[in-house]
Amino acid sequence: MDAEVVFWPSGKSVRVRRGTSVLDASRRAGVTIATRCGGKAACFMCKVTVRPGSELAPIGDAERRKLAGLDEKGIRLSCQTRVTGRVEVELPPDPLKAAIARQLARQQQDDELW
Ligand code: FES
Repeated sequence: MDAEVVFWPSGKSVRVRRGTSVLDASRRAGVTIATRCGGKAACFMCKVTVRPGSELAPIGDAERRKLAGLDEKGIRLSCQTRVTGRVEVELPPDPLKAAIARQLARQQQDDELW
């Protein structure tokens, strides 16, 4: 156990062995990252944003091709990203909660017009 992964916004953290994927670390931490392909780099559902300064193994060619430049913005596939030290990861908002928040904001705007 010589790596640590912190998941935001919850701030939950877990210590794992170097080389563990961010997805596996999330499961150990009890943090849910949605997947559909089971970690085969096919579904894109496990995307996360890695904070600058995080210690990661170099990105593989297959992941780089699939991300098509998103990796330059810190976005990685958690199933393919291996940790080598301290890593901080931001999870995307829950899609259902995000949809509800958008709907409430729209409704509030409509109410303000009347
Ligand atoms: S789990 Fe499907 S792309 Fe990572």
